Amino acid sequence: MLEPLARIGRDPATGGYVRDAWSEADMELREWFAGEAARRGLDVREDRNGNLWAWWGDPTARPGVVTGSHLDSVRQGGAYDGPLGVVSAFAALDRLKNRGVTPGRPVGVVCFTDEEGARFGVPCMGSRLLTGAIKPDRALALTDDDGDTLADVMARAGRKPYAIGRDDETLATVGTFVELHVEQGRALVDQERPVGVASAIWPHGRWRFDFRGRADHAGTTRLADRDDPMLPFARMVLAARAGAARRGVVATVGKVHVSPGNANAIPGRVSAWLDARGADECDVRQLVAELAEGLDVKEESWTAVVDFDAALRDRLARVAGGDTPAPILPTGAGHDAGIMAAAGVPAGMLFVRNPTGVSHSPDEHAEQADCEAGVVALADVLEDLCR
Ligand code: GLV
Ligand code: MN
Ligand code: MN
Repeated sequence: MLEPLARIGRDPATGGYVRDAWSEADMELREWFAGEAARRGLDVREDRNGNLWAWWGDPTARPGVVTGSHLDSVRQGGAYDGPLGVVSAFAALDRLKNRGVTPGRPVGVVCFTDEEGARFGVPCMGSRLLTGAIKPDRALALTDDDGDTLADVMARAGRKPYAIGRDDETLATVGTFVELHVEQGRALVDQERPVGVASAIWPHGRWRFDFRGRADHAGTTRLADRDDPMLPFARMVLAARAGAARRGVVATVGKVHVSPGNANAIPGRVSAWLDARGADECDVRQLVAELAEGLDVKEESWTAVVDFDAALRDRLARVAGGDTPAPILPTGAGHDAGIMAAAGVPAGMLFVRNPTGVSHSPDEHAEQADCEAGVVALADVLEDLCR
């Protein structure tokens, strides 16, 4: 199902995808989206924040039912996280047309920009800007690993960086948002069901820790004379793991910059990014506060718990489940649907079974039959919601 996108941003050495926001791969993915929309006779436009919208019907006349997800990826990510939701959205629209459905409300497909935050550090940038959950000045000043700001990168891509920010006109077109996503866990495997519905998204955040020391020779500097930032960094990683286990939350250090990065030198600086999440915000906050004590720490993003609209959630479970309502599950992964929900848009999510639960990795997978079940469920849901 994802075949048309398979070659874009793929690292042949690993089979993983590298699809940073505003990269060449992202541009190709955007072109693909516009082509799919045009092929179906949908009106396509890019909003001020770089999110793409394809409409069947006129959403300025009446707010529509929107589905979709994102096309960017984490570095060395899998094929399904994001693209499955966008491809399934187009496929579900095709089904509605084949069923002869005449929607009573406009139906839209969205591709949110920079959901993963792989390049600038803040996830769900497109939906955060759209809803005003991040200030444009802060977003524009964020830098990537090369030191380029979001403002630089958008301008280079021919966009207008100083036009970004909360966009009430676009928001008003979204009556309801339903995001389909590959499951990033094994709850549906355990329940032997191909499709589930989200109940909630755990509160989660990212923090940057900077450890400074003194660069020096690895062979000639006595142990007693060293000021090695790798040591407090290592202590923080171990404390994060132990503290998370004690509190029943999760904590991950998945990105580290060591400067200057010589095998034969004590580093002068280590920067590390902590990702922490859990069912209970207090537990996550307490863990981070404990780790941060006496250190140089900056919160780069925080997303409060999201409880999806209960009536919509139950309706999705009923419609998507066929004879037996679809299972309802919480998730530890962040999504644009969560940002939309926090902004007051009725939003919900469908999950498609992932046989191993592995995600943010080239090994991420969903069986073809389950993807097809996802499209049918999404089409059923859209048909129900667009009456
Ligand atoms: C997004 O995939 C996230 O939860 O990090
Ligand atoms: Mn992801
Ligand atoms: Mn995703």
